[in-house]
Amino acid sequence: MRNILLIISGSIAAYKSLDLIRRLRERECNVRCILTKGGAEFITPLSVASLSGNPVYGDLFSLKDETEMGHIRLTREADVIVVAPASADLIAKMAHGFADDLATAALLASDKKILVAPAMNAQMWKHPATQRNLRRVEKDGAVIIPPSAGSLACGEIGAGRLAEAGDIVKAILDSLSLREMAGVKASSALLSSGASRHPLPEGGGFKALVTSGPTHESIDPVRYLGNRSSGKQGHAIAAALAEVGGDVTLITGPTALPDPEGVRVAHVTSASEMLAACEKALPVNVAVCAAAVSDWRAEAASVRKLKKRGGAATALALVENPDILGHLANHPKKRPILVIGFAAETENLLKNAATKRKNKNADWIVANDVSGGKIFGSDNNEVTLVTAKGGEEWPRMSKEAVAEKLVERIVSYIRKKK
Ligand code: C5P
Repeated sequence: MRNILLIISGSIAAYKSLDLIRRLRERECNVRCILTKGGAEFITPLSVASLSGNPVYGDLFSLKDETEMGHIRLTREADVIVVAPASADLIAKMAHGFADDLATAALLASDKKILVAPAMNAQMWKHPATQRNLRRVEKDGAVIIPPSAGSLACGEIGAGRLAEAGDIVKAILDSLSLREMAGVKASSALLSSGASRHPLPEGGGFKALVTSGPTHESIDPVRYLGNRSSGKQGHAIAAALAEVGGDVTLITGPTALPDPEGVRVAHVTSASEMLAACEKALPVNVAVCAAAVSDWRAEAASVRKLKKRGGAATALALVENPDILGHLANHPKKRPILVIGFAAETENLLKNAATKRKNKNADWIVANDVSGGKIFGSDNNEVTLVTAKGGEEWPRMSKEAVAEKLVERIVSYIRKKK
């Protein structure tokens, strides 16, 4: 059971927090609520108590609450604190460290991750003071769940609508999974090296893009140039990154695999489409290029089906495809902190992979020996992780286990770098 402390402040969007409570309880969360004086102008303590199944807290100086559940205990017993909706006034108080009511005192006393979902009139949102305060709150370590734009309750149109309940739930669960990664799951094999015994750095999660599968390069309407990649390894890496709380975009060529859970998926066909989708996914902290991108494409794909020529040789002019890994690793403005490529080699594995790492400016190369069709389509993989320090052979294991071990390394790396 996860414990959420939800602070509901004075905004017309307060009624949406009722839906949020319901959704969190559906996800087996225990929700305790602090309703500010302003919040109680919009919704009643009774509705909050009924939906949360817990008493509602509001008064800093209530002897009863202070003995039973004071501002310190409320925060200590929570896994995460969520302010939704967060009014401009509450954000201003947070930015300046006020503690003149139960909500602000709890926020100041908190030793937990704080998520803030603002909701207010568009002008209030745009005001430099609000933006300044928000930056301060974020700098202090809170995660901001930005409001969306649209028609507001006050009749005006603009930014300031409370983020969708589903998005707030996702942000909460993401932050919880990072927390779990920090401790609760510490005994699992994934965390055995100690990489995840501490949460990721202040400021929450990380963003990752993963390329996977083959690309198909059209020759004519019925034929294409492709390769044998199944996408299993790339998909497993995307799933493992999401499992530890990453915000993951998987960009995949045509495969027979289902989309992994909890991952944003872009389906593409050709290398050019894959490159465009990668560019769209930037900026990210980590890029894992596991796709077997076709090295070439037809110089000019025919719009009509090509005919056989009665036994005569047919020439197919090919041009090289863009190197997506190289492009990301040399990106002038948005190079990810960590760029990882793959190298499928049939000979001189370590030497070729080390050269590839340097030539493409990648940080790591996951190299595998594909001689004799050992890996393509298989559920297992046998890889060597090549970094600036040299090669590290991993024993043969399932592609899921390779993914978990790689993600363990990724988390450890970005924790040090961030
Ligand atoms: O040069 P080679 O194809 O052996 O490099 C393999 C690595 O480069 C893989 O990580 C693959 O995803 C990536 N790659 C790419 N774009 C290409 C070719 C390869 O991203 N056009």
